[in-house]
Amino acid sequence: MSRKEPIIAIDGPVGAGKSVAARELARALGFAYLNTGAMYRAVALAAREAGVSPDDPNVEERLASILRGIRIKFDGEKILLNGRDVTAKKDEPEIGDLASRFSALGSVRARMRELQRAAGADGGVVMEGRDIGTAIFPDAEFKFFLVADVKTRARRRFEELKKKGGTITEQEVLEQLVERDRRDSGRELAPLKRADDATEIDSTKLSIDAVVAAMKAKINPRINAAKDLKRA
Ligand code: DC
Repeated sequence: MSRKEPIIAIDGPVGAGKSVAARELARALGFAYLNTGAMYRAVALAAREAGVSPDDPNVEERLASILRGIRIKFDGEKILLNGRDVTAKKDEPEIGDLASRFSALGSVRARMRELQRAAGADGGVVMEGRDIGTAIFPDAEFKFFLVADVKTRARRRFEELKKKGGTITEQEVLEQLVERDRRDSGRELAPLKRADDATEIDSTKLSIDAVVAAMKAKINPRINAAKDLKRA
């Protein structure tokens, strides 16, 4: 391995179970966890607060100084945008949609790539998103692509939002999800797609524990072999 510790990339669409699985896997391995979708959501929030819309004709120009100065920090479950706790706001359905739209812009992707590569440079991290295995760390030691049937994903997302006090219906969640899948997979830059060397896991009928177990089954033998090699 070229880095001290491996990078584990987990990509997939909304509701495939990436976040819960990635967090649990990171905990089990003693690795850091980075939710890159939350970073795009932070950008969307910063843009909305500055009155910038993804439809503005000069959107990238207007975003330039926001992107240059942006500070995104994770503190446990919390996310801080320029020092301010925006954890609750980032889960608004409108922010998910805006994040998807801003994430199609080259300047936004370039800035996030820079921050994400810096965060993962030493390895020892589980990074989840849409393009980690294809664009951010195409040389990641382990890559997983999580999928699930669209209705199952919509139900999971709906239950999650309901728990957080959301009032959106399951049908609305399904419609938004289909639209977001279309946009994230159809964009020109770093679209959502499985890296050729990623292991695909269909979580439709699997519990989170089973998903994490499938990942560990791939990872542990190689990590242990690398440790043995170091000791020898
Ligand atoms: O994972 P999420 O739903 O919080 O992500 C929000 C949006 O951010 C998603 O619809 C597309 C974008 N995104 C991206 O383009 N690349 C990533 N690595 C992560 C998220």
